[in-house]
This record gives sequence, C-alpha cells and structure tokens, in this order.
Amino acid sequence: MKPVDSNLEATISYAALLEKIEILRSTLRWAQTLDRAQIQKLLNQCTTMRDEVLRLSHTERFVKASTSAPRNQSIAQRRHALLERDFQFDGVFGDSPRLIEALEIAEKAARTDLPVLVDGESGTGKELMAKVIHANGNRADQPYITVNCGAIPENLLESELFGHKRGAFTGANTDRAGKFEAANGGTIFLDEIGELPLIGQVKLLRVLQSNEIQRVGSDQVISVDARIVAATNKNLLEMCKAGTFREDLYYRLSIIQVTLPALRDRRDEISVLIEYLSNEAASRLNRQPVKLSRRLTSFLSSYDYPGNIRELRNIIFRISCLATETADLEHLPENVRAKVPEQTAQPEVEPATSLVDAKRKASDEAERSYLLECLAKANYRVTDLARNIGMNRSHVQTLLKKHGISARQSLKAHADGGSPASLT
Ligand SMILES: Nc1ncnc2c1ncn2[C@@H]1O[C@H](COP(=O)(O)OP(=O)(O)OP(=O)(O)O)[C@@H](O)[C@H]1O
Ligand SMILES: [Mg+2]
Repeated sequence: MKPVDSNLEATISYAALLEKIEILRSTLRWAQTLDRAQIQKLLNQCTTMRDEVLRLSHTERFVKASTSAPRNQSIAQRRHALLERDFQFDGVFGDSPRLIEALEIAEKAARTDLPVLVDGESGTGKELMAKVIHANGNRADQPYITVNCGAIPENLLESELFGHKRGAFTGANTDRAGKFEAANGGTIFLDEIGELPLIGQVKLLRVLQSNEIQRVGSDQVISVDARIVAATNKNLLEMCKAGTFREDLYYRLSIIQVTLPALRDRRDEISVLIEYLSNEAASRLNRQPVKLSRRLTSFLSSYDYPGNIRELRNIIFRISCLATETADLEHLPENVRAKVPEQTAQPEVEPATSLVDAKRKASDEAERSYLLECLAKANYRVTDLARNIGMNRSHVQTLLKKHGISARQSLKAHADGGSPASLT
C-alpha cells in the first residue's frame, strides 16, 4: 500500500477492476442459459470484486484520514516515509510518536527472522501488529498461523503445537501435523504467551533453540522454519521473577520487543481515531458517518479506555448503529455511560443563531417532550400514541424519527429505570 502517492496504484487497481467487470458483463451478455455451478462461479467473481472495492475504499479512507489533521511535522514525515517505503499498515491507524516508533521497529523486524515479542494492554493492537510484521516481511505470502496459548488445555498443548503420530494417545486416529509444521516457511503467532504453562514453555524453548520438532509419539525429528511472533498483556519480566515464566524463554522471545501504548497515553490521537473508525463503521453499516454531540465528543476525549482501541472501536460501531444522525451520551454502553461525569451529562444547549432559530429550537423541544410524555402514557405503543393524539401512524413515526425517539428503546429504558432512548 502506498496511499499518499497512490494515484498510479489506485488507477491500476481500478483499471483491473473495470476489466473484471467487463469480463463478467460479457459472460452474462453471451450466456444463453446458466446452470447453478456457473451462477456460483459468477457470484464468486462478484464477491472478489466487492472485496477489492472495499480494499480500495479502505486505502482511500486511510489516506484521507492520515492527511486530514496537521500534526507534529516530524511524526507526519516519519509516517509518510513508511508509506513511501510501501509499508503495509494492515489497518493500524494512528500517529502518536510511540505508535510510529513501534511501526518503525516492526518494519525493521519484519525483514529479519528474529523472534518478536509484542506487549501492551488488552486491546492496544497486538494481534494487528503481529499481522503487520508478517505482512511486511518476505514471508508475507507464506502461512500465518495463530495459536492462542491460553486456550489450549494443557494435555493437548504438545499435540496442538507439534502434531502427533497415529495411536500416540486415545483418540489419535490419524497422523496429524501441529501448528509449527503448518507455519513452516511462514509465521507462527503465539498469542497470550504469558498463559503458556511451564511445561509448554520448556518445549517451546527447545524449538527455538533447535528449529526442530517431534510429533507426539514419534521419534522422527522434523525441521521447521517458522518465524515466531509472540504477544502478551502480562508483564513477563515480573512473571519471570515470580517463577511463572522461564527467563531463558523470555530472552529468546524478546530479542525484538514492540510495546504498544495504552490509548489513554496517546489522548491527542483520539479525535483522529474517532474519525477513522466512524468512517470504517459507516462503510460497514452502509450509512453516513455518525455525528457526535459536543458532550459525547468531550467525554470520549477524556475517558480512560481500559479496553483501549478495541473499546473505542466498539463504542464507535455501537453509536453508529444506534444513532440516527447525531450520537449522544445515551448511545454509550451502560457501563461506560455510568462513568460520564455529572457535569458532562448536563443537557446540551446549542446557542440559537437568531430569533427564528431560537423559536424553532423551543418549538422542537416542546414537540419532543410532548411526544415522550404521550408515548409513556400510551405504554410505548406507537399505534396507541397515534390514536391518542389524533394523528395517523406514519406521521407519528416520522415525528419520532425526527426526534430520534425509539418506542422500543424507550420502553426498555423505562423498564430499566433510565431516560428515554433514541431510535435503533
Ligand atoms: N492502531 C490501530 N488502528 C486501528 N485499529 C486498531 C488499532 N489497534 C487496534 N485496533 C483495533 O482494535 C481491536 C483490538 O486489536 P487487537 O485484537 O489487535 O488487540 P490486542 O492487543 O491483541 O488485544 P488483546 O490483548 O485483548 O488480545 C481490533 O479491532 C483492531 O482492529
Ligand atoms: Mg490479542
């Protein structure tokens, strides 16, 4: 990907896409009849084209977002230099000095076969970074195999990692290759390495030392060439001190260490991340990017994000799904809403720009309150509401939509003892 100077690449890719569309059109034009298999084939081609369009639009969004805000020049230059060098960002967005530094380390590490340890709090993008390292190395078109070290039962660990021979244990009905063999020539991503039991750590250390494995129950030694990237949200050095992680393994795995910063330590990036993620959500949900009320923006820039970018991403996707046009505090998940300071939660009063505007605002507010009150009296049933206030149902629906009121959500909020909620 070379977004900033990507005109040429984009033209080529769009041209290739157009050519594919033309081939598809001509196939359809000359086909007398199509059987199911042929239809399926054409559908597959359409799916490929759709994915390509999504990829192109993603690249364009990235360029737009990454060039929109004037930021620290030297950081912008460093990121631009990464783009110039064809660095694959693979969805990593942001330009805090610490993130750019992490990407620069990843870029250098990617060109080698050295093990990399990615650490950082949950949701800071460790898995994404592991993919970036793979995508930027010369193994990019080779397998990328993920192992969640915390999710494998201890008795299956060895067989999962190294495979087994038929009959090695009850249930081993066939010979089976493990994850290391599957990753041969490519990368093995050992996620949550801090969860690997000590016995697994010993076995892993042996592979790191010899580049060889043995399937469970087999004497045969198999050479494997898998580049190791490990990730953890634990402090492995502390674990070494506590005796729960082997120090020799730690030093082997962490020849290159990439530490990802917590979102609360890169607050000045939150606004560009919100813009980037809102665009992403908009294209996924097939809608216009959601707007944020001032008090929601203010809250989101000061919130601590214990779940880091994953949490911010989830919030943006949620509000993009729930809000009609402008999202507000009520669209936040309940556990996050509980953290909104009382001061921020005060109703937002947009200053009127003229007398006419002031009258319109007052009338809108009165209309909204009236609707909410009548909706509650109608037990949150739109049909009853329409009858009670003498309007036809579709007009009432339009009015509710205009004010962002959802009968269903309001009923739920009422049952939960909260305030009325907006349309879903
Ligand atoms: N810099 C970033 N730019 C854009 N999206 C990001 C970035 N970092 C993380 N994300 C998004 O945040 C989510 C969490 O990322 P990821 O799974 O890589 O985190 P993690 O550190 O592995 O979390 P965990 O420790 O919980 O496994 C993903 O949806 C990912 O796409
Ligand atoms: Mg992860």
